[in-house]
Amino acid sequence: MEVVIRPDAEDAGRTVAGIVHQALAEGVRTLGLATGSSPLGVYRDLARRHRHEGLSFSGVEAFLLDEYVGLPAAHLQSFAQVIRRELADHVDLDPARLHLPSGTAPDPAAEARRFERCLAEAGPVGLQILGIGVNGHIGFNEPGSSLASRTRLKTLTDDTRRDNARFFGGIEDVPRHVITQGLATIGEASHLVLIATGPHKARAVAAAVEGPVTAACPASVLQLHPHVTVVVDALAASQLE
Ligand code: F6R
Repeated sequence: MEVVIRPDAEDAGRTVAGIVHQALAEGVRTLGLATGSSPLGVYRDLARRHRHEGLSFSGVEAFLLDEYVGLPAAHLQSFAQVIRRELADHVDLDPARLHLPSGTAPDPAAEARRFERCLAEAGPVGLQILGIGVNGHIGFNEPGSSLASRTRLKTLTDDTRRDNARFFGGIEDVPRHVITQGLATIGEASHLVLIATGPHKARAVAAAVEGPVTAACPASVLQLHPHVTVVVDALAASQLE
């Protein structure tokens, strides 16, 4: 595992965008995308590179990590909308090649299996962008998730719903369930790139990078992967030894 410490969040975002740019230039054609606030600087810089540096997403198959259950795709906070607004609308990614679980499928468990099959057929993901929750989740694999888990229906913890209330009117509007790639699913990507910024992520980053490998901190499973890059700003790095 390589840990890259940058002075601030903007620099960390540019660093991850540079890693993605290089991977695409080297022929990676399957990209894993996270939503949430952590990768916003990455996506801004990827859009800039598309406009000014000839970075192209043509032919790229993109897979999201997760989607809220119960939110229609048109809802402003569905991850389908978020990824379009923050990245896909600003680059030449073919909308037909942007894959994610449907939050409104009548049978979420079957939808999770469909998405897992879709990943297996297109995979492995060449480069996967990850954020980390303050409780150490990646995707929405909350503490206690099996390290061998596959894409499935998960219940969000109250902590995560409180954290994400900032995107909604209040905690009562945050969905209770998600479909998320499992930890083993995520681990099939060839290169995992995790970005974390801000002081509130420092404890989770230290536990993920230097703590024991344990389901109590799902991101600690990254220690078992052969190719992981963790990009943090100085504040998120502040609890590293
Ligand atoms: C989102 C996702 C989550 C977020 C994590 C951090 O697709 O999979 O793991 O990366 O909850 O969220 P932010 O970046 O908003 O702090």
